[in-house]
Formats: sequence, structure tokens, C-alpha cells
Amino acid sequence: MMPNTDLLSLLDARRPLHSLPQPFYNDPEVYQSDLAHIWYREWIFAAASAELPKAGSYVTVQLGVYSVIIVRGADKVIRAFHNSCRHRGSRICTAHSGTAPKLVCPYHQWTYELDGRLLWARDMGPDFNPADHGLGAVQCREFQGMVYICLANQAPDISLLEAKAAEYMAPHDTASLKVAHQSRIVEQGNWKLVMENNRECYHCSSNHPELCVTFPDDPNLILAADDGVENIGTRHIERCEAAGLPSKYLIDPQEQWRFVRVPFVGEAVSYTMDGKPACARRVGMVPFNDAGALLYFHYPNSWNHFLSDKVITFRMMPVGPQETEVTTTWLVHKDAVEGVDYDVERLTKVWIATNDEDRRIVEENQRGVNTPGYRPGPYSPVHELGVNQFVDWYCNRMRDRLTGQAAIAAE
Ligand code: FES
Ligand SMILES: [Fe+2]
Repeated sequence: MMPNTDLLSLLDARRPLHSLPQPFYNDPEVYQSDLAHIWYREWIFAAASAELPKAGSYVTVQLGVYSVIIVRGADKVIRAFHNSCRHRGSRICTAHSGTAPKLVCPYHQWTYELDGRLLWARDMGPDFNPADHGLGAVQCREFQGMVYICLANQAPDISLLEAKAAEYMAPHDTASLKVAHQSRIVEQGNWKLVMENNRECYHCSSNHPELCVTFPDDPNLILAADDGVENIGTRHIERCEAAGLPSKYLIDPQEQWRFVRVPFVGEAVSYTMDGKPACARRVGMVPFNDAGALLYFHYPNSWNHFLSDKVITFRMMPVGPQETEVTTTWLVHKDAVEGVDYDVERLTKVWIATNDEDRRIVEENQRGVNTPGYRPGPYSPVHELGVNQFVDWYCNRMRDRLTGQAAIAAE
């Protein structure tokens, strides 16, 4: 981890409205500081609830050095545990996801209930009390069909996000959907480069031919509600709000998350190559096909699109200083039938292509940032204020954590 004073100096060296100094993108010590001060302390999007459809469904996530199991119990409650057996520490779940009636350690078969209690351990002697050896719990919160985990003992308050998610996301009823497809890719780039790239569409017209068929790259469609602009974006919001779909630009006072609904290009209603729906069944209570896309990001690790015919979640996990995993999940109505109501190839084509294009962009960005000739460059005031907003959030959060720690240490 980088000494706090060094990291604070590096934060001080950042030029406003410019990309970050090089070490933020490639230095192993800064990466360790990112893990310690951001990733191990924030609420992290772990899975869509639909990835855990029944009792015993589990997902494992690797969050920095932590391996975590997220599992749905017999009581339907989703919980999270450290993926480390209380015997001699073996990982218990080794697959990315699966279903199990009990959690059985592969090493000596200690067997845990889905709520983490140790049920059975062979030949441990008369004084052994299974109640003392349950799995270590990790904080876990499920709301609006999204599951978040937090490794910190004292998790940040997310009650405001929960309340606003209940307004914005409820019409899409994400908890009731089913997984139609999931893709997992690894990008050779720092997690901040992945998020920065997501926060602008300056690069879209020249890099995303599939996405640009339906997604507008006009930054004026994502303006704060009080900007006083009248355009197709604001008219779309008014129409959706009148139909009961919360749509106005809403940003967290701490700027960690944001909701806004945007229209698609022309007559398009979904991310497809012809703009037509990818699934014949609408999700939730969305009243019409042309509801556009409700865009929701939550730092540090997710962005999501809520449409009339599907919901797409994106989960980013840091793997190393220059390596990031991106998991994309396509959710559709639970009664939609593959081959009848939707076709997986058609449903996923645009974002599979776009993700791969973004992977190449991020990897070239990383290579260029790594050369000693890199200098932080200026953001476009038209297209890249979203990137600056993310970088501001990161720098402010990091500074708060570092100075907060310093204050505690000095007491
Ligand atoms: S390490 Fe899990 S049963 Fe021994
Ligand atoms: Fe992109």
C-alpha cells in the first residue's frame, strides 16, 4: 500500500479537469490503496438477485484478495460469507456459480447450512461444538433485484440509494426476472480506466458501430434536471414520468450513484441491430416499448441499463493493477421462452460487441498511459464531464479516507 502522505501528494498533483497522474493507473501500491480504502469499504455490486433463483443458488466473487460466497437460503434470504472453511481454510465453493443443497467443503467435507451454520464435521471429538465454527459473515444487502456486499465492519449508509432505487427501478421489477445470458471478460486495464471509459460517449461514434444504431451519443440528453434545456431527452423524461416511470436525472449528494432515463435513437426501443425489441415480453410494469433506457451507475463497480424488454447489469471487479473483470448479465421476463420470445444472439449482440470494443479501447489506453511519455490530458467540456465526475468522486473519497485515517491515528 502507498504511504498515506505519498498518496495525498499524488492527489494534490492532479490537475483539475485532466486525466489522473500515471501512478493512479498502473502503480501496484496505489492499486493496494484502492483496494484498502475504496473496494474493501464501499458497497460493491455482487450479483443480480435473478442469478440466485432458488434456495441453494450461489455465486462466488473474488474481490481483491477476498473470496466471498453469496447464497440464497432455504428461507429465500440472500446472505454472503467468506469463502474459507472454518476447519483449515479451504475454499468451499470453487465455481463462479451453482446450486447446492448444503455448502460442503471439498477438503474434509465439513458441511454448512445455507445460512452459514456448521451442520456436520466428522470425528472432531466430544468437546467440539459446531456452533463455534459457522462461516464468517460478510455484510449483504438485497434491494430491487440487486445484491450488494460490503467487507467493512462499518458499512456506509445506503438508505438513500435504497429509497431512490425503490422509485426508479421498481417499474422494471428486476427481482422477478430471469438470467437469459451472462458474459465474463477480462480487460488488461486498471479499473479506473474501465469506469472512465464507461462515463463518456466521446468515443462512441468512432468505436461502437453496433451501439450507435440505437444509443444516442449526445451528451445533452444526460443533463441535470435543472439545466433548463428542452430537447428530446427532456420530452422523453416528461412523457415517461407522466406514465409513472421515474426518469429525471437524480444524483447522490455524494455523487456515488445516479439515475437518468434517456431515449433511444429515432424509433428504436432496445439495443438491437434493427432497434426493435429483443424480447417479446415487457419487463415489470413498464407501460410501453419506447421507454428508452434508465441508466444507473454506482461507484466503484457497476453500471446498468433498465429497458422495456430487458435489464442489463454490468459488474466490474479489480483483478490486478492493470487487470479488470467485467461481468455482463442480460435479464428478461421470467416467463419469456428462449427461441419463442427471444433469441440469445439477438438479445446480446450489441453489448457483446460493445464490451469487446471497449476492452480494446481500455487496453490501448493502458498501454499508452504506461509509457513514460504519458502526460495527463484535458477532458472535453462537452463530452467528458462524466469522466471528471467519476474521477472527482474517486479523489474525494480517497482523500476523505486518508485524512480520516490520519485523524484517527493522531488521536
Ligand atoms: S478445510 Fe474444509 S473440511 Fe477441512
Ligand atoms: Fe464504449
